[in-house]
Amino acid sequence: MRATINTIGQYEGQTVTLGCWLANKRSSGKIAFLQLRDGTGYIQGVVAKDEIGESDFQQAKDMGQESSLYVTGEVRADDRAPSGYELTVHDVEIIQDTQDYPITPKEHGTEFLMDHRHLWIRSSRQHAILKIRDVIIQATYRFFKENGFTKIDPPILTANSAEGTTNLFHTKYFDEDAFLSQSGQLYLEAAALAFKRVFSFGPTFRAEKSKTRRHLIEFWMIEPEMAFCDHEESLDIQEAYVVAITQAVLEEAKAELQTLGRDLAPLENIQAPFPRIRYDEAIERLQKKGFDISWGEDLGAPHETEIASQFEKPVFITHYPQAIKAFYMKPEPGNPDVALCADLIAPEGYGEIIGGSERIDDYELLAERFKEHQLSEEAYQWYLELRQYGSVPHSGFGLGLERTVAWLSGTEHVRETIPFPRLLNRLYP
Ligand code: 4AD
Ligand code: MG
Repeated sequence: MRATINTIGQYEGQTVTLGCWLANKRSSGKIAFLQLRDGTGYIQGVVAKDEIGESDFQQAKDMGQESSLYVTGEVRADDRAPSGYELTVHDVEIIQDTQDYPITPKEHGTEFLMDHRHLWIRSSRQHAILKIRDVIIQATYRFFKENGFTKIDPPILTANSAEGTTNLFHTKYFDEDAFLSQSGQLYLEAAALAFKRVFSFGPTFRAEKSKTRRHLIEFWMIEPEMAFCDHEESLDIQEAYVVAITQAVLEEAKAELQTLGRDLAPLENIQAPFPRIRYDEAIERLQKKGFDISWGEDLGAPHETEIASQFEKPVFITHYPQAIKAFYMKPEPGNPDVALCADLIAPEGYGEIIGGSERIDDYELLAERFKEHQLSEEAYQWYLELRQYGSVPHSGFGLGLERTVAWLSGTEHVRETIPFPRLLNRLYP
């Protein structure tokens, strides 16, 4: 009978066959202990020379790490085993005997590991991080379905920029110039006027020249957009969504969090409401701590980390100066120097995980903004038209998946939170 390790308990006392790889091994005299992994978990296989015979025993002892195998054996309960079970091996069929696997249990440098990312993802920590990523993705679809959102897929190849022109990823579209999408937002605004509540989940691209632990060139964003929804209501949804994914990780990724040694206490704290402070207050708090920053300047990573450290939960910084934010953000009524926007800053120094705002819904004001920002009216004609035909107050936001995975899994650098990271100097593997 074929079985997988994560559900092996149901076969206790029976003989099963596992398609698996050899993660590690040790032997003492007539017994070999094989650490087997099959992608769903780990189990120890106990091989006795008397049971499988001299030559098969020798082969099992000699095969290298990451050899691929069919292992047949009896499932036994074992309290000492992390999975709760052990396999008493009757037969080992070697599919490929691997020798000299590059990634050994000893320490390797980051560049070496990144060069071997195609193999590195098999190791337990990387596997755990990517499992947590999957839990967040599944919980995202559940949350938005339960809350009446329709999944909409915006294009990747675009003729315009959504988030400024400094980090646009340029390409050719036959004879035209085109850009890889920085954000699906503008298209989602069109979709929100057709479906009321929409969200997208897809790759976005930014030719970031910065080499930090928070920046990828290609990253995945979850972007909800809601019609008849103001800035404050959008914050309520952001809060509920972040609580939902945090709970999902705590409940569905217990083993992975343990593999990573993630401190759970800060995550168990994550309940609504989250603190909401205005940009003005953030600047005051920073100045009080001795930061050399004045009103009008954008917040950098050290600023975000300081603000985050003053709270136990994610914190919204709201009402940033219009001048440092995107062209589409609605100004605060009576206070047009600031925007109805917010960034959500994760705890523990993981930085901004969400950027969002209420959008300008007035035709004249938006047309004016295009002029100010010297954006080609032609490329954005369709976007402007949305303000001509049944325009309504609407808001939306974008959550960066990799930074969120980094935070929830307790992973220092975003390069480990995506299967094959695209970085400033890395397109391989
Ligand atoms: O704040 P950003 O630039 O917002 C937007 O793109 C809006 N159009 C979203 C919207 O309202 N629909 O990006 C949103 C989030 C950031 O908070 C951050 O988590 C992530 O995307 N992000 C990055 N993640 C990894 N690498 C990068 N280079 C990132 N740039 C942004
Ligand atoms: Mg932002």
